[in-house]
Amino acid sequence: MTTPVSYEIEDGIAVITIDNPPVNALGHAVREGLWQAIDRFAGDDAAKAALVLGEGKLFLGGADISEFGKPPKEPSLPDLVGHIEAAPKPVICAIQGAALGGGLEVALGCHYRVAMPGAKLGLPEVTLGIIPGAGGTQRLPRLVGLKKALEIIPAGGSVAAEEAVEIGLADRLGEGAPKAAGLAYARDLVADGAAPHPVGTLPCPEADDAALEEARAHWARRNRGEVARLAAIDAIEAACARDIADGMAEERRIFQEMIDTPQRAGLIHAFFNERKTAKLPELKGVTPRDVSRIGVIGGGTMGSGIAASALLGGLDVTLIERDDAAAEKAQATVTRTLDGAVKRGKLAEDKRDAILSGAFRTATEYDALSDADLAVEAVFEDMDVKTEVFATLDRVMKPGAVLATNTSYLDVAAIAATTSRPADVIGLHFFSPAHVMKLLEVVVPDTTAPEVTATAFALAKKMGKTAVRAGVCDGFIGNRILSAYRASADRMVLAGASPYEVDRAVRAFGWPMGPYEMGDLAGLDIGYATRQRRATTRDPRDIVPTWADELYHLGRLGQKTGRGYYIYEEGARGGTEDPEVLDLIEKAREAQGASRREFTEAEIQRRYMAALVNEAARVLEEGIAQRPLDIDVTFLYGYGFPRWRGGPMHWADSEGLPALLADIERYAEEDPFFWQPAPLLKRLVAEGRSFQDLNDAQTGDAA
Ligand code: 3HC
Ligand code: NAI
Repeated sequence: MTTPVSYEIEDGIAVITIDNPPVNALGHAVREGLWQAIDRFAGDDAAKAALVLGEGKLFLGGADISEFGKPPKEPSLPDLVGHIEAAPKPVICAIQGAALGGGLEVALGCHYRVAMPGAKLGLPEVTLGIIPGAGGTQRLPRLVGLKKALEIIPAGGSVAAEEAVEIGLADRLGEGAPKAAGLAYARDLVADGAAPHPVGTLPCPEADDAALEEARAHWARRNRGEVARLAAIDAIEAACARDIADGMAEERRIFQEMIDTPQRAGLIHAFFNERKTAKLPELKGVTPRDVSRIGVIGGGTMGSGIAASALLGGLDVTLIERDDAAAEKAQATVTRTLDGAVKRGKLAEDKRDAILSGAFRTATEYDALSDADLAVEAVFEDMDVKTEVFATLDRVMKPGAVLATNTSYLDVAAIAATTSRPADVIGLHFFSPAHVMKLLEVVVPDTTAPEVTATAFALAKKMGKTAVRAGVCDGFIGNRILSAYRASADRMVLAGASPYEVDRAVRAFGWPMGPYEMGDLAGLDIGYATRQRRATTRDPRDIVPTWADELYHLGRLGQKTGRGYYIYEEGARGGTEDPEVLDLIEKAREAQGASRREFTEAEIQRRYMAALVNEAARVLEEGIAQRPLDIDVTFLYGYGFPRWRGGPMHWADSEGLPALLADIERYAEEDPFFWQPAPLLKRLVAEGRSFQDLNDAQTGDAA
């Protein structure tokens, strides 16, 4: 049987190389191979020291995540780390690229660590809903102290090679290739007669109750509802009071507890699915077109953000505005965004200067786009304006260039049809602020060429975005579903809930904001404009939140006018509730003859989520989203859905589709217009299937 771990002697050093592409995950075969290699080294008189290496661009990517939840296979990772640590002669590792999770724990089991420049050393376990389970919570504090460990582990954080050396996590910064750097260090250690240096035998750090409590309070506040970060702090605390064996046992106990949580299942669902959205059957074997120069038309809120994001992704950007004043304004906005990136350490100062003097320019004439590979239109949301822009793009852009629109709601197929090259036209729906938000909905009309879709996905990757494929409809995936659960909130308000109760319940579920706070933030004029746009096509049985129109007419547009659903005092954080709004709503109820009743927090959450899932099922059935996972990722990256719940479709599966359908049918008895169960949901329940079954069927994961 071949093993992913090789052993050879070089210059008196046993070189143990792990080669398990793509990330050298520590699956069963690697653990077994490494265990045997350490045994062989222990008994090999030709070897004075051992050097552990990871083949490829990174050292070790951690435990094999796909093994979680399956029956464990010996040797376990914690035992393996202990086995390395107990080796009778020095074990060194050289870390390039990354040592993450179990990968860093293996490095901590080694006696000496060389970190190569550019490498990051981290423990991201909490982002997967678990805690480091192979001694990370015990050895890291012993090596770098309690405070530093409290900074890294509950954050799921990492440190760069240089900092690792500074804080004592690594012993030396390497030069050249990892193998050469590791061998050089190993030879030095042998020449000095250095003994093994097991981290586990270092004294445990002194307990610091204040630091532990501060960390607990911080993470309870910042990541409300998440259990793993707090559990990781408990495990670190155990390192302060116990010897390594006891501490490891406590870590193991907590680790196992975390493995069994629904949060772990949700976070790992998110981890794998966000890597699947770009893997579309229609793109198999399709080569994207080259994109290095792009044009952005319109330099307002979205255009400036898109331009900045593209520049940060290394693209050359020409931004077209209507006149010099608007162009200057856009130039200033993009510059401010790049300055912000410099401030946050995301962009080097000289890089920013190079971008501003080379890769970025504004213009008022479209001829400046004649050699661009792709253009993104982000002008006003008005079909006539957009059609005119596309006619000009059609005229000036070179053959084969991609023409994209950032429209939120307009018909991308209709825009494509106005050009002479509909196969080159696609929707690129960025989210605001575009340089921050990770989601990009790639909106694909039937006429779009597959390589244009592939180009959009490749562009997203360059810009650091997570792209999701969507079909053409009003609102695409995200905003279309949002309209439905937003409407469920208005229905609850009409039936007696206050907007404040709704916001509180939605937050308590884990969303970053409730729908009414969100409205205030975005501006209540946006919702008003949407209602106006839909007025002519609205079904007469639909309920209109007349109080929202009244707020608009009162000039209460939300945060920007100091009043909306909430009152915003100058300088205050957040808004305060306003009895006037409640009066206004009460009058609307009376006018519509609605009777008033109480809603519990649980009922609000259930209806809000049921409306989301029901509409999502329609979006799936219509092919607007191809797989439930595309909807999950849309909500994680575009709408702040709590990641530990995996995504709304994963949530629905974990609640059980039959129970959810039964609730929707019950709601339909009182409000049959709004609560019609989606046919796909009914079919799945009848067939005893889940949304995950649909994912598996489409991504080929089914056994
Ligand atoms: N286990 C299993 N599969 C993994 C994996 C892991 N730890 N890490 C990555 N993969 C898979 C991905 O799913 C992907 O598969 P695909 O090609 O079929 O989609 C493939 O490897 C490549 O991954 P990326 O596309 O993410 O590759 P990048 O080069 O962009 O990134 C990385 C590499 C930074 C290592 C990134 O993959 C990553 O962050 N991985 C997870 C790291 C992590 O969280 N490790 C801790 C695991 S938990 C643990 O160790 C517990 C221990 O304490 C007991
Ligand atoms: P905005 O009003 O902030 O910016 C529009 C810009 O386009 C203005 O600077 C204007 O001068 C410029 N412009 C108008 N006509 C032009 C023309 N013919 N040529 C060149 N420039 C022209 O609008 P915003 O918010 O940036 O929206 C732009 C588009 O992005 C719209 O289609 C909108 O629906 C969409 N969108 C908006 C989001 C948001 O949250 N603001 C989110 C996602 C998409």
